[in-house]
Amino acid sequence: MEHLSEILLSRLSDFIANHIGLYFPEARWRDLERGIHAAAREFEFDSAEACVQWLMSAPLTRLQIEVLASHLTVGETYFLRDRKTFTALEEEILPQLIRSRRGGERQLRIWSAGGCTGEEAYSIAMLFDRILPDVANWHVTILATDINPRFLRHAAGGSYNHWSFRDTPSWMKERYFQERKSSRFEILPRIKRMVTFSYLNLAEDSYPSLTNNTNAMDLILCRNVLMYFAPDTVRKVVGNLYRCLVDGGWLIVSPTEVSHTLFGQFVTINFCGMTFYRKAQSLDLQVPTFEFRPFLPETKLETPNIEVEPGLGTLPPMSEVGIPGRAPSPSDNSKPETSYSQPEPNPYTEAVSLYEQGQYSAAVQKLEELVIRGPNRPEVMALLARTHANQGKLTEAQEWSEKAIATDKLNPGFYYLRATILHEQGRTDEASLALKKALYLDQNFVLAHFALGNIARQQGRHKESEKYFGNALTLLKRFCRRQMD
Ligand SMILES: C[S@@+](CC[C@H](N)C(=O)[O-])C[C@H]1O[C@@H](n2cnc3c(N)ncnc32)[C@H](O)[C@@H]1O
Repeated sequence: MEHLSEILLSRLSDFIANHIGLYFPEARWRDLERGIHAAAREFEFDSAEACVQWLMSAPLTRLQIEVLASHLTVGETYFLRDRKTFTALEEEILPQLIRSRRGGERQLRIWSAGGCTGEEAYSIAMLFDRILPDVANWHVTILATDINPRFLRHAAGGSYNHWSFRDTPSWMKERYFQERKSSRFEILPRIKRMVTFSYLNLAEDSYPSLTNNTNAMDLILCRNVLMYFAPDTVRKVVGNLYRCLVDGGWLIVSPTEVSHTLFGQFVTINFCGMTFYRKAQSLDLQVPTFEFRPFLPETKLETPNIEVEPGLGTLPPMSEVGIPGRAPSPSDNSKPETSYSQPEPNPYTEAVSLYEQGQYSAAVQKLEELVIRGPNRPEVMALLARTHANQGKLTEAQEWSEKAIATDKLNPGFYYLRATILHEQGRTDEASLALKKALYLDQNFVLAHFALGNIARQQGRHKESEKYFGNALTLLKRFCRRQMD
């Protein structure tokens, strides 16, 4: 095997840390080198060095990231990994979430981030199958994402060998799998349908977003993932995951990833010898101390029929959309600034900052005060829509998006926002209509073309989807040319 120079390996490890998050300190350069040789073969390079130079010559494409990830990531996982965590989930965390939603929207959203070959997400689906008897009346989303396309394909196939059950009680295999030839165990279709798998690179800032279904999570499992990341990436990912949670939502990492400093913005919950993290209910309302109750008798074993959201996974992130953030109106900051006085806080800017930090309840409070105080400001309403959407309150989100449109009918960004929320609600035709209105107002709105292309493709209208994708590409090329001029 041709060895890469230390200088190149050092540059490469920084490059991988920046783009994929994975941390390769000097002690792990041999692993990095092995992975790069395999990737170079897949890219059909004779020399690993030439492949590295090529990779580092421009921003990585999605395909390059996928190939690198498939040779550099570790795929260690199994059903009910860390049994105590799943006991806590089954006995305490999920029942508590279910109780808190029973009287309301009956919606629960779970995300296995870095879910690998699916054992973690399917384990959660099986827990729901055990503890939620009236599941047909619920809207449960279990999203599992990973950067490695091979792992995702394996997960979607739902077929496992003995190794995936290495510390798993036998009831799980017996109840939820069918044995096939060559000692493979296939997960039951009804459990398989409960989980949606999709690609997501945690090192990128593409989440939280309504558009890839990573917003308004009640529970995120990101276990044995952060431990492979560079320190800066860990901090960024933890901040992003925090923002993906609804107030009171849970983050679970593996016991070896627990850290007081890293998860300082969360409330720490200890029980059963395990540490869990929870986003506070709001700035001033702390999460009540978690009470661990003794085991409950096993409740039900009926066959639920969970309807799983398809997961948008297709529309681009709302954060990238040009929803115009207008200059604050004078009413926010009426006194002139002087050289000797501190500028008065601007409530809208404060609300934006709260939103960006994931402090959604506090952001809503501030924004609603602005609405009451008037005058009508569409950007305040649009931010209210986005904040509600990030809390999973889609009805409110939709209402505010409509109010934003009613206040400013000529803003294409507001129609795009409305379309994204409608799409999330499964109202695809209305979403298409809103996107077409956005294009009517601004025919160069790339994201609206792209979103319409995705919807048309999902609905099997391939010619139409090609037309929209073609438009998006033409506009992007024009944009690139302008940038280069
Ligand atoms: C050791 S597995 C953990 C699987 C599972 N969470 C568990 O605890 O059993 C780590 C997973 O993180 C994924 N991963 C690594 N880097 C990632 C990134 N930048 N974005 C998303 N997933 C990533 C890997 O592909 C791998 O599937």
